[in-house]
Amino acid sequence: VHNQPVISDFEYDLLLNELETLEKQHPGFVSQQSPTLRVGSDLSREFRQYDHKYPMLSLGNTYSFEEVRDFDNRVRKTVRGEIVYVCELKFDGASISISYLGGLLEKALTRGDGSRGDDVSENVRTIKNIPQVVESPDVPASFIARGEILMPRSVFNELNEERAKEGLNQFANPRNAASGTLKLLDSSIVAARKLDCLFYSLLGDDLPDDNHHGNLQKMHEWGFPVSDSYRICGNIDEVIGFIQFWETRRNDLPFDTDGVVIKVNSLEQQKLLGFTAKSPRWAIAYKYKPEQALTRLLSVSFQVGRTGAVTPVANLEPVQLAGTTVKRASLHNADQIYLLDLHLNDMVYVEKGGEIIPKIVGVEKASRPGKSVAISFIDKCPECGTELVRNDGEANHFCPNYLHCPPQIKGRIEHFISRRAMDIEGLGEETTDLLYSRGLIRNIADLYDLSADQLIPLERLGEKSSSNIIRSIEESKNVPYSRVLFALGIRHVGETVARKISTKFRSIDGLINAEIEELTATEEIGPKIASSIKSYFIDPENIEIISRLRNAGIHLRGETEETVSGDLLKDKIIVISGVFRLHTRDEYKKLIEKYGGKNSSSVSSNTSFILAGDNMGPSKREKAVELGIEMKSEEEFLKIIGEI
Ligand code: IVH
Repeated sequence: VHNQPVISDFEYDLLLNELETLEKQHPGFVSQQSPTLRVGSDLSREFRQYDHKYPMLSLGNTYSFEEVRDFDNRVRKTVRGEIVYVCELKFDGASISISYLGGLLEKALTRGDGSRGDDVSENVRTIKNIPQVVESPDVPASFIARGEILMPRSVFNELNEERAKEGLNQFANPRNAASGTLKLLDSSIVAARKLDCLFYSLLGDDLPDDNHHGNLQKMHEWGFPVSDSYRICGNIDEVIGFIQFWETRRNDLPFDTDGVVIKVNSLEQQKLLGFTAKSPRWAIAYKYKPEQALTRLLSVSFQVGRTGAVTPVANLEPVQLAGTTVKRASLHNADQIYLLDLHLNDMVYVEKGGEIIPKIVGVEKASRPGKSVAISFIDKCPECGTELVRNDGEANHFCPNYLHCPPQIKGRIEHFISRRAMDIEGLGEETTDLLYSRGLIRNIADLYDLSADQLIPLERLGEKSSSNIIRSIEESKNVPYSRVLFALGIRHVGETVARKISTKFRSIDGLINAEIEELTATEEIGPKIASSIKSYFIDPENIEIISRLRNAGIHLRGETEETVSGDLLKDKIIVISGVFRLHTRDEYKKLIEKYGGKNSSSVSSNTSFILAGDNMGPSKREKAVELGIEMKSEEEFLKIIGEI
């Protein structure tokens, strides 16, 4: 649902399979909520939902040829006569069901929970190869075309590179990127993401043909993109031949595929076979096991992240795996190393899982030479030499030297300059690294002592970008107090907490001198945050940094009540709708009044704009669209009143 898998599909399928077996053995323990009983749900409240005319089911799946043959036997038990199968690739994206009425695209629904789906028509209309109009004499008055929305691998790689540059979370795979994109609220971003679609099924009351293959061909004729990779197979050996044919060739396709779908061709036979609660009996998916590669472990490096967490990474002899060259694999933590009983120069199996970087899943112990050295976890930080700690109940080792350990310092500087904090442009990770390694910055306050003359001689910078950086640093002096508090990077002080603190403690001096009790008396601040704030300000180095920021002219106090302009929202009639992250609804009401606006509960032509949170009510949204009333996000609203 969140498009952030933590395990691979294969591991998921194995667990589901195990659960199914257990449920069969112990029916008394089957939960009504069991994932074996339902199609997973992707419904989200941001979209209007509609019933599917034909439920969108899942497919029974298997990883073995034996079970494919079992499927054939089951089919033959129910259906007499000749059986023809259509084999198709199983495209790995987000499924979509599009209804057409009078040849016009009417509505596009996601799978949802199988019975109801999210209406993502606006987004789907931006996908270039999906027909909006179908014109042909034999097009039925009403029909449904189903297919898979895909993000080509090349587009996916570009998107992730861009996201990495902007410091955003990466998508784990093209499927997650495709379904994440389909659920965006802004269809102009969807249009820019270059999605594609391949169709694999036609549904309706008066279909042009009595078999699946004929209908696929018709769809193709009508202008729907249909992959030409499908084959008609007269028996199960041919089916298995098709599966084997694509096993490695699928890596050369522009899209991800995760298997083959085998369908009974005749619609009459399909009807005879029918459905189980979850899937059709006339189709099955054969899924390819995640590919593994065997290669040598050359060494293990230990990386220290910006939070001080230490991650072991395996350096491997380069090897080809599912279309890419793999040189490194993640080892997660110390337990994982011991669990695998990893030795230097071991031959190891690597696999691509749910995450971006491949992982080591096994060791070929038989080929291990007699005297080999077991890999052990380090006990000192590789960056600063400090003794590592591992807290009870935590899987990771940490470097506690947060003030002087280089990656942690750099991490804090990067956080300080990031868009949501001080928003200093032109200073990406690489430039920050460069400035740090040249000794030009050691902490956030050093940024304000930089001059263009110091930057110009550095490689890759030059006059123009140097002066842009200096200008942007200068502009950051206008960033309001609450965002400065967030930018400091005090542990556990995120944007919301920073905002709460800035309302209660109107200047940083008040905060520095606050007692634990005063802190915990503030909304959103519990003992953990309070003690983190205390220990930040107890440190003389931090106090020194604050004093240098003050001298540089950074806002370290909020505007006083009197100086707050009271008419930023003068005469504005504002409707609040949805759920908010940065302030409560009541706080927004007070803010509207404070800045001279009026809060109203219903949308009308007098409404100036809608302050729209998540899950905004569909009726308000519809009315707003109808009357052409602007919707502003929390961030946009807070920008108007100068809070961010
Ligand atoms: S036919 C009753 N054909 O796989 C289901 N599905 O697990 C009929 N998929 O949600 C589906 N490629 O999104 C079919 N060639 C193909 C497919 C395909 C991918 C997806 C589809 C479905 C899921 C089933």
